[in-house]
Amino acid sequence: MPISDTFFDTLRDWSKRKIEIISKYTAAGARILKKGWYIDGFAGTGLYEDEKKGSSLVVAEIAQELKDKVSLSCLNVEEDRENYRQLVRNTCQLNPPPINLHGSFTGKIDDILEHISNDNVICFLDPFGIKGIDYSTIQKLVNRNTNENNFATDLWLRFDTKITHRLRGRNPTKTDHFKLLHQAFGINDPYRLLDLLTNCDQCDITENAVRQYLEQLKLIYQEKYGHAYTGYYPIYSLEGDYKYYLTFITKHPIAICVASDVVYSSEKQYKLDFQTYKETATNQLSLFSISEVTEKWMNLEAIKRIKDHLTMNCRRSTMPLLKIKLDLIEHGQFGKFSHRDLRKALLELKEDHFIISSSSNAYSKMDTEFTFIP
Ligand SMILES: C[S@@+](CC[C@H](N)C(=O)[O-])C[C@H]1O[C@@H](n2cnc3c(N)ncnc32)[C@H](O)[C@@H]1O
Repeated sequence: MPISDTFFDTLRDWSKRKIEIISKYTAAGARILKKGWYIDGFAGTGLYEDEKKGSSLVVAEIAQELKDKVSLSCLNVEEDRENYRQLVRNTCQLNPPPINLHGSFTGKIDDILEHISNDNVICFLDPFGIKGIDYSTIQKLVNRNTNENNFATDLWLRFDTKITHRLRGRNPTKTDHFKLLHQAFGINDPYRLLDLLTNCDQCDITENAVRQYLEQLKLIYQEKYGHAYTGYYPIYSLEGDYKYYLTFITKHPIAICVASDVVYSSEKQYKLDFQTYKETATNQLSLFSISEVTEKWMNLEAIKRIKDHLTMNCRRSTMPLLKIKLDLIEHGQFGKFSHRDLRKALLELKEDHFIISSSSNAYSKMDTEFTFIP
């Protein structure tokens, strides 16, 4: 039975986590941007059959809650007729009501652009597999006004890597998977695509696919804005099964920091829930609260990773906190530390005399500059 037939029966634990990340980020982003759009390009029904809320409904409720402080307009696109009907029914009572479009994300891109004009956008693309995420459609969204580049286009995308495993040993011109991959990656040459996705003896094929995909998306952002920041995060079920990656791309340094913080808080909760789940499943009793042990251990691990990175890479430099955070995110630490962990690590490095001075004692302020040992 295809996943689409049963997907909306009940909200699975990993889907719940995905929705929490998107909604927390959108709430934080809307508060910073003050005005803009949330586009849910693969919106679903808004409400699962077990009465749990989907991404489009959760965010529309946030827009309603924040409406006196910020203007967040919601626009949903749903291709399936029945899902669309339910989406309209489940969101029409909201104030402001979201705009719901029936059709495919790609088919509706011109309508979307007309609505959003030059406003800021937070977009979430949540397809089954990779069908329907067209590189050229994302290009159109990011390049929506060739003369303007002040607006934000923050993009969250569920990237399902399973397809890349099916490519190994195949003739790239003779499989339908390549058509989908070509559309998603915007790469015409099937042999180049095959090489990009499968030629990684020393690396993890799944993670490699995500990285390559983000490299392709970066080209669009770099052309438009001159730079881009990306992050990715694997979503697992409570039973420990890998599901897919949640990826993020933005032009804004603060946006990637907020996204990383949101993902970290979700990851932390996941680790605690995972331990509790394991403890319950195996009926193990512990003298200590598993959550306490896990939380403390996670903080210590994060602080150690930050310190290791900085001591290896930052000698002889002076950097503001924002740049330090961006550097960590760029070097594989997206979603793996909190702002508090970073502050703690810097304080410890000061005590260790690896940081020799700072422009202020406010160790959590983004513009505080730190000078590292020569
Ligand atoms: C994974 S579900 C979305 C779940 C939703 N984000 C949530 O959290 O509740 C994917 C949805 O996209 C719809 N869909 C599939 N292909 C589409 C396309 N090309 N454009 C728009 N919607 C599409 C499906 O019918 C389905 O409702």
